[in-house]
Amino acid sequence: MKIISTQGLTHLYSKGTPFEVAAIRDISVDIEEGALVGIIGATGSGKSTFIQHLNGILKPEAGKVYLEGRDIWEDKKSIRETRFKVGLCFQYPEYQLFEETVYKDISFGPRNMKLPQDEIDRRVRTAADYVGLGEEALGKSPFDLSGGEKRRAAIAGVMAMEPKVLILDEPTAGLDPSGRRKILKLIADYRVRTGSTVILVSHSMEDVAALATSVILMHRSSVVMQGTVEEVFTQGGLLKSMGLNVPQVTEIFEGLRARGLPVSDRIFTIEQGLDELLRFYGKEAVR
Ligand SMILES: Nc1ncnc2c1ncn2[C@@H]1O[C@H](COP(=O)(O)OP(=O)(O)OP(=O)(O)O)[C@@H](O)[C@H]1O
Ligand SMILES: [Mg+2]
Repeated sequence: MKIISTQGLTHLYSKGTPFEVAAIRDISVDIEEGALVGIIGATGSGKSTFIQHLNGILKPEAGKVYLEGRDIWEDKKSIRETRFKVGLCFQYPEYQLFEETVYKDISFGPRNMKLPQDEIDRRVRTAADYVGLGEEALGKSPFDLSGGEKRRAAIAGVMAMEPKVLILDEPTAGLDPSGRRKILKLIADYRVRTGSTVILVSHSMEDVAALATSVILMHRSSVVMQGTVEEVFTQGGLLKSMGLNVPQVTEIFEGLRARGLPVSDRIFTIEQGLDELLRFYGKEAVR
């Protein structure tokens, strides 16, 4: 079942001025309930602008956004519900932490939803647990956390609203490899545990290949392709022409094939690469 679909979505910044720019143009996509959708595209291609339409932060110049079949701009009640059902975590969300304690920060969304106190408490603790922040972190000032912890606290704040759709804009940007791994794992685990739909904007082809069930490819304000990881990452030439790349492991296997080794051209993750090498050398996959 489709949880979100857009039809002909177009957005103009600085409308009516000499600086007018169509940041997204005529975007029509369907997002299936429970999917993990990766959005890729070069810088400035319109990814952030697009996702900000899905929970009504931005209003389209033309076109529609449907959430569970209903136009989100139908009336005031509908847009308010949308903001609770579709949780959006911005690029560098830790800049928005501002409360005295991590607990208060994570509870900001649920408090806005006017939930009873015990339900707020349950949600804060569940979300903190999802992102691996323990009891001791909840009492701290968000400014005393490490970079990776701050990022996770900010993500927990969105998760605590228990949105049906969780959107993350570049959640691993600027983190070290261990911080990145933690975030990717928590996103994958969160989806499995809650059955939520997740939309992940990322510059990392590796992360998208490892996590996504489908991929949206954006280029110069438009969606040029929506397909499976395999469908999109077998289009190496197209991706390169748009300033993108295939995952590094895919490129390594391309190199091996170019040298005449009969290895698969469907390798998109390190695990697949490992299995393929073990197969190639005739060994059983022992891990
Ligand atoms: N607030 C704004 N006012 C005017 N133009 C904007 C604004 N935000 C974005 N733009 C322009 O809209 C286009 C799309 O920007 P957007 O931020 O959506 O791209 P993006 O794909 O998210 O890029 P990045 O990968 O760098 O985050 C760009 O040309 C950008 O310069
Ligand atoms: Mg962006």
